[in-house]
Amino acid sequence: MRILFIGDVVGSPGRKMIKDYVPRLKQKYKPTVTIINGENAASGKGITEKIYKGFLDAGAQAVTLGNHSWANREIFEFIEDAKSLVRPANYPPGTPGKGWTYLKINHLEVAVINLMGRTFLPAIDCPFRKVDEILEEVQKRTPFIFVDFHAEATSEKQAMGWYLDGRVSAVMGTHTHVQTADNRVLPGGTAYLTDVGMTGPYDGILGVERETVINKFLTTLPVRFEVDNGREQLNGVVIDIDPKTGLAKSIQRILINDDQPFFE
Ligand SMILES: [Fe+2]
Ligand SMILES: [Fe+2]
Repeated sequence: MRILFIGDVVGSPGRKMIKDYVPRLKQKYKPTVTIINGENAASGKGITEKIYKGFLDAGAQAVTLGNHSWANREIFEFIEDAKSLVRPANYPPGTPGKGWTYLKINHLEVAVINLMGRTFLPAIDCPFRKVDEILEEVQKRTPFIFVDFHAEATSEKQAMGWYLDGRVSAVMGTHTHVQTADNRVLPGGTAYLTDVGMTGPYDGILGVERETVINKFLTTLPVRFEVDNGREQLNGVVIDIDPKTGLAKSIQRILINDDQPFFE
């Protein structure tokens, strides 16, 4: 059992990378399941139905979200029907959409859970207590459990990794858009990475046109962020999972950019 997960796809440069590279990555790594974080896929914030379907067409089986879930209003029109789209599970009760889903792959089921941190992010329900609640249901159904923990603080992400160690297959951090180098399998058997990184502009700042961001730091004036349209990158991970136990055996990082080209 192998999971390919791609970090936050930003705007059209990110979507281009998905189209160009997901088929090639699938060819190379032969994942059982491919998951994409799409919270920034529509011009830097949010997602549309067309983009969501485009990710499925490119070869993904599930799409996760984050703090920008609601940024494109179109989401409210299709989220209830989007079977493979998950938004943070710890939004308050009554929020549209769902926080976890099951993917049927051959004779197996893989649970995909999306959670969001609360440090330097909106104060939603507790992700730790919420995931306990979800696991009570999920663990009865499958040992293959993937968690996208969309959070800002490295401490909160590490805490989630250790909290879930031995209970889920993987806890992958998203949101900060910069890939960290701490990929490991924790002692209990959960694959962990503080941040998978982003897929989209390579020369921007977190995907945004860098002049705008630099100016914001220089002047502190409000600015309008635009997606950078220079060179592109793709950030992801491949996780190998024991087909008997659901625990991780290994995790490797993927970086594709002009400095680290892709080899078939
Ligand atoms: Fe993001
Ligand atoms: Fe985010």
